[in-house]
Order: sequence, then structure tokens, then C-alpha cells
Amino acid sequence: MSKLLIKTFGCQMNEYDSSKMADVLKASHGYELTSDPEAADLVLLNTCSVREKASEKVFSELGRLKEWKDAKPGRVIGVGGCVASQEGEAIARRAPAVDLVFGPQTLHRLPALLDQARRTHKAAIDIRFPEIEKFDHLPEPRKEGPTAFVSIMEGCSKYCTFCIVPYTRGEEVSRPLDDVLAEVDALVRQGVREITLLGQNVNAYQGAMGGAMADGGTCDLALLIHILARFETLGRIRFTTSHPAHFSDALIDAYASEPKLAGVLHLPVQSGSDRILGMMKRGYTRAQFLDKIARLRALRPEIALSSDFIVGFPSESEADFEATMELIEAARFDAAFSFVYSPRPGTPAANLRDGVSMDVKQARLERLQARIRDFGIAYTERLIGTVQTVLVEKVSRRGDGQLAGKTPCNRWLNFDGAEALIGHFAEVCVTESLTNSLRGELIGVAAGETIDEAVSA
Ligand code: SAM
Ligand code: F3S
Repeated sequence: MSKLLIKTFGCQMNEYDSSKMADVLKASHGYELTSDPEAADLVLLNTCSVREKASEKVFSELGRLKEWKDAKPGRVIGVGGCVASQEGEAIARRAPAVDLVFGPQTLHRLPALLDQARRTHKAAIDIRFPEIEKFDHLPEPRKEGPTAFVSIMEGCSKYCTFCIVPYTRGEEVSRPLDDVLAEVDALVRQGVREITLLGQNVNAYQGAMGGAMADGGTCDLALLIHILARFETLGRIRFTTSHPAHFSDALIDAYASEPKLAGVLHLPVQSGSDRILGMMKRGYTRAQFLDKIARLRALRPEIALSSDFIVGFPSESEADFEATMELIEAARFDAAFSFVYSPRPGTPAANLRDGVSMDVKQARLERLQARIRDFGIAYTERLIGTVQTVLVEKVSRRGDGQLAGKTPCNRWLNFDGAEALIGHFAEVCVTESLTNSLRGELIGVAAGETIDEAVSA
């Protein structure tokens, strides 16, 4: 049996794409996943180019892989993701050992590319953006655990001045509503209890309504959440990542009216300075951002709020950075991804003059991260003594036989309980907060769950 190793860099969208690469190659050529390079016949790098000299990293990885390929005849190397999309044929020119180059929107063509490369003994390259075709050619989703990701839109049309994504993943395209419903239906039938809707700007979703819902209109994210909530055994819905400018009143209201929508939100703000937000072309002001989260908090006071920050955007002054720190005080984010700005070739901001030194940027980043860490610790400590509804996912990896489930705010909570609870929602009282997880005591199964009485206490 042929074995496949996928090395994934970057975001959740890439994680999702990697799982789809594994699905298509299993369906077409029977490839089984492995994490052992020695056992692998095909290695795919699913690359990211959002930050740093990502392409350089890929080329040094490819240098190592050439030796791996030479060690056994028939081995194949593929490069996918955003670096592939950006560099295209240049990859095969610079690293002739590469057999396959494909973009985020052509991963469904992997089987054909593989056959072509074997036939022609030349690199097979396809990095086009053939709209939403990808989803029509993916095998039926298969799931073992109780959670699943469902991609509902691809690409991004925001063109923030610092960001490479619109160039590597293409313009925003939403999947038709019926497609999304069919995928969720298949997953729910396999026992999935929680769905995370995925997209670069998932709240810009505008899915065409056809079939049973035909009225020529489109469905937005708020409506989609309400529709999905009608799947009886689907207990929890999440979405990521959303854009503040599209964070609509309807979506804010959904947090009040739809209990299945998890009390958690990742809303990247990038900066608290209106001057910098303008230069980034983000399409909102600091006041508009704070107003949206104030309205949200009024409806869901316990919501866990996280964000993304870019520190040291060209010309960021001390005053601009202080404005970001003030926004953090006002918003009380409990977690964030934060990075020093990294110029991306081909983006408008890459041409801006920047007089701020790397030492200053690094010091600002550390200050920002320390403050958010404080808020994170305070948030987790407030959970102690509360009862959380967790979806029990597995036996804890720590080897003490405890069960592990995720809280609505996405924290692992470990507790003693019977394995029959896996795949069910349970009420657990939080007793302790550790560095990366919580510990608690089982109160019982959640209301509406049907499992054996014996396991509920
Ligand atoms: N759609 C999301 C939004 O509303 O901003 C973000 C998607 S982007 C791929 C993920 C994160 O990468 C951004 O939120 C930003 O903080 C970071 N990022 C993107 N380009 C960057 C750059 N040139 N330098 C540093 N960080 C960057
Ligand atoms: Fe990038 Fe801005 Fe889109 S950060 S992914 S261009 S919303």
C-alpha cells in the first residue's frame, strides 16, 4: 500500500486543505497517511506565504527532500499551498526534484497531476483558480471524531495592503448553500456533533440558494447558522475567521438568538490606530470595532474574544502603538496571534518606507503579548467554579484515563468519566486551571443528550 506524508505550514485553511489532499489521494490511488518519511512514497508540502521568507524555507526543505527522493526509486515530491501559487513554475525550475506543483484551488486535481508526472517524467503544474470547482470533485467527507471543519468560502477580496492571501488564494467565492448543507448532512449522519465553518472571511459568506431554497437570493453567515442549527443532533456551531467590517447586526443577533452558536469569536483587528487601519485598508475604525464588540458582550457577556495583531506596520509611531494597547485594554481579548509586520513581495505595503527599527518592533510585540497573556490568564481563572458544556472528544492524551472535551471557548477540559461519553455533550464543573488546559468534575450529561443513565454520574 502506498504511503503519503503531508507537511502543513500556516493556517487552519491549510490544515483543512491537507485533510482534503489526503481524502482525494486515498480515493484515487489508495494512499494511506504516514508521519514517517522513510515509509512514505509521496511527500506533499502544503506551504504558507503569509509571513517571513516562507518560500526560502520551502526551498531549503526541498533540498533535504531531494536526498529522500534519491534514496528510493519511485518517490514523488509535491508542493501545494500559497508558496506554490505564488512561485508556480519557478519551483520546478529551482528544485527539479519536484514532481507536482498545485495551488489551494487545484488540490482536487492531484490524482491527475500525479498520473501526468509519472507518464511524462516532467513536473506537472496547475496553480489556476478555477472558481469553486474544487468542491465538486472532492470525495464525500469521512469523519471519525465528533467535530469537523466545513469550508464555506474560498479566497479573499479585501486586499488589505499588507496581505498576500488574495493573490495566492484568489478572490472570494462562496459555496452554494445546498453544497454546504449536503456536506453537513453527511457529517452529521456520521456522528459529527460540532461544525466549524471555515473561510478567510467567513462572515462575507454569500451562498447562492438553489434547489429546495430556490428564490434566486443568497444566504449570509447569520442565516446559514440558523439553518444549520436545525440539524437536531448538531449541538454546536463555530466559525473562523471573520472580518470586523462584515461583522453584521444579523450576526451579532445570532449570538443572542442561537444557543448552538458557541460563545467564542476570533475577530482580527490588526491595530488600534485609525491612521494605521486606514493605511492597511481595513475598512473600519477603532470606534466601530469597539462598538461591535460592546454590542456582542451585552448579548453574551461570557464570550471569549480573540484577535490578530500586526506590530510595526511601516511608519507605526509610539502613539499608534499606544492606541493599539488602549484598544486591548478596552476589548479585553483573552488570546491573540500577533506578529511583527513582514513585507510581502507584490503587496502595496511592501513599497512603503519604514523608519522603525526591528528592536523597537520586537519590544512592542513583547509588550503586547505580555498584556494579552495577562488577560488570558484572568479569563481562564474566571472559569474556575463555572459549569461548562463540553463536547467530549477523546480519552485525554496525558495517559491518566481522564476524558478530554472542549469548552465553548475552545479550551480543553479534562475530567473523570466513562468512555461512553465520547461524542456527547456533558456538563463539567471547572476546578483547576493549568497552562494549556482545565481540569474539572463531571456533573452529568447535557440536557437533551441520550446515553445510558449509568455513565452520566
Ligand atoms: N481574514 C483575516 C482578517 O480579517 O484579517 C486574516 C487572514 S490572514 C491570512 C491571517 C493573519 O496573518 C492576519 O490577521 C494578520 O495578522 C497576519 N498577517 C497577514 N499578512 C501579514 C504580514 N504581511 N505581516 C505580518 N502578519 C501578517
Ligand atoms: Fe488578508 Fe485582509 Fe483578506 S488580512 S486574508 S486581505 S481580509
